[in-house]
Amino acid sequence: MLGAAGSSMAAQIFAGSGRDISLDASVIPAYLKPNLELMQKKCSLCHGLDLSFGSIQTGVTPSGVPFEKSGIQSLGVRMLRKPGSDMTTAELKKILELINWLREEITK
Ligand code: HEC
Repeated sequence: MLGAAGSSMAAQIFAGSGRDISLDASVIPAYLKPNLELMQKKCSLCHGLDLSFGSIQTGVTPSGVPFEKSGIQSLGVRMLRKPGSDMTTAELKKILELINWLREEITK
């Protein structure tokens, strides 16, 4: 039952899947909109946002790392440290706040 509720919520936040996944920005509360803008800008420099959205949607990254709080935190730090990542720790913190919020909404 819980699983079914979770997936219906996920369907409201994300449309499509795989490479064609998109986020319905209208479900994002106003206080997190700047965080979404940051994520769209900073997390699409080296790969598509589909990688991040898909991990949020499924709760697991393509390489199989569970996408919950500690997994999200360590992935974020890994991305921050990549050569050419144009991101400050303050910006990463805002992006992780949004990702954690999205995961919570999906698993509610
Ligand atoms: C400077 C380049 C760069 C930036 C900026 C970047 N990434 Fe990545 N990302 C990579 C590379 C390279 C990989 C593949 C190798 C790896 O997993 O470390 C990757 C892989 C990933 C994966 C898949 C990991 C897995 O376990 O399969 C996710 C999810 C991801 N990135 C999310 C993000 C998010 C969220 C942001 C923004 C906070 C971001 N990336 C910003 C370079 C980047």
